[in-house]
Amino acid sequence: MVEHDVKNLGLAAEGRLKIEWAEQSMPVLRQVRERFAKEQPLKGLRLGACLHVTTETAVLMLTLKAGGAQVALCASNPLSTQDDTAAALVKEYDIPVYAHKGEDNATYYRHLEAVLKTRPQITMDDGADLISQLHGESNLGRDLVKGVIGGTEETTTGVIRLRAMEKEGVLAFPVIAVNDADTKHLFDNRYGTGQSTIDGLLRATNVLLAGKTLVVAGYGMCGRGVATRAKGMGAHVIVTEVEPMRALEAVMDGFSVMKMPDAAEVGDLFVTVTGNTSVIRKEHFTRMKDGAILANSGHFNVEIDLVALAQLATARRVVRPFVEEFQLAGGRRVFVLGEGRLINLAAAEGHPAAVMDMSFANQALSAEFMAKKAKTLERKVYVVPREIDLEIARLKLASMGVEIDDLTSDQESYLASWRHGT
Ligand code: ADE
Repeated sequence: MVEHDVKNLGLAAEGRLKIEWAEQSMPVLRQVRERFAKEQPLKGLRLGACLHVTTETAVLMLTLKAGGAQVALCASNPLSTQDDTAAALVKEYDIPVYAHKGEDNATYYRHLEAVLKTRPQITMDDGADLISQLHGESNLGRDLVKGVIGGTEETTTGVIRLRAMEKEGVLAFPVIAVNDADTKHLFDNRYGTGQSTIDGLLRATNVLLAGKTLVVAGYGMCGRGVATRAKGMGAHVIVTEVEPMRALEAVMDGFSVMKMPDAAEVGDLFVTVTGNTSVIRKEHFTRMKDGAILANSGHFNVEIDLVALAQLATARRVVRPFVEEFQLAGGRRVFVLGEGRLINLAAAEGHPAAVMDMSFANQALSAEFMAKKAKTLERKVYVVPREIDLEIARLKLASMGVEIDDLTSDQESYLASWRHGT
């Protein structure tokens, strides 16, 4: 059997069924896989991936393997691994996986190291931890980074880190910002995060959203997804923002916009999706109502200041899976879901396969692009080529049986001309 560190190989059969279930909703990735199997664009390349270990990621791993890559996978979050999927990838599909749900920080980094030790030539990240390890102080990183031809990155958070590395002049190889493709962030971030965050919130708590006040911190694509879905379920939604244009959009989309200290006093539920740190902190906890529920759906567990909350608390206990109660002075209680980690992956199953279909088609096609073009690229962050993005949109529409119009030649020449006026 391939090398691995997973929780229980006995879960493999169950995992396989779930992977097959996800695959049914991933028609674009299936087509990529069929072509990859014929053309072998990744033949002989070692690819190290640090992604949420879910059924959808499994379908991506099988696609890359079908394209000839030798893949190794670790988790991009300690709480997001689906242990049955991890087991199936190892036992049923011979893919080395290093991940278990609930792993501690030391194990998380040991698993990253296990993937790095396979000497990847292409990296595939969700949050830029693999790349950041490669660029760190360790001898292993310094030794391995020379062998990497390029990487890809899935998330807004990861792309922000990579752009900072590029700006500092330390990025050692080209990376494709998969997140920035339209067929990724317009759909995955909005509809994927929107639905799966509500799913995680409900699976963890079973609260009724109708009639509740739900505060969404951040009105990027993820925030607008969460806000829209919560509104659709009858919640009164408040948005908090730091960026004026986004705040204005939220107002005109019909949401109440206010500062967090004010929102803290009236919110029943809070969801952070900003990508920033300490968005909900001491001065907010002290104003919250008894029973307030706090969840995060941003990439890292830094958006809710849990250190400050722990210091304020007179007692704490886990009251249901993924729900921790913090008792505060005066008898108020605040509940934190999923240890402040991505609630959609901690308490639910992450984004549905139908949306990951496009995100992961971008990943697979970006890996192919990198395999072909890395030598011509600089040590920079690149966007996904527009032809790839548009092709994914076309394939997705076709898979849904949706047809669109073509421009007539008259319309084409109209658009190409500046002579037409009133
Ligand atoms: N990120 C969000 N949802 C995901 C999923 N289902 N699989 C992999 N990565 C994800």
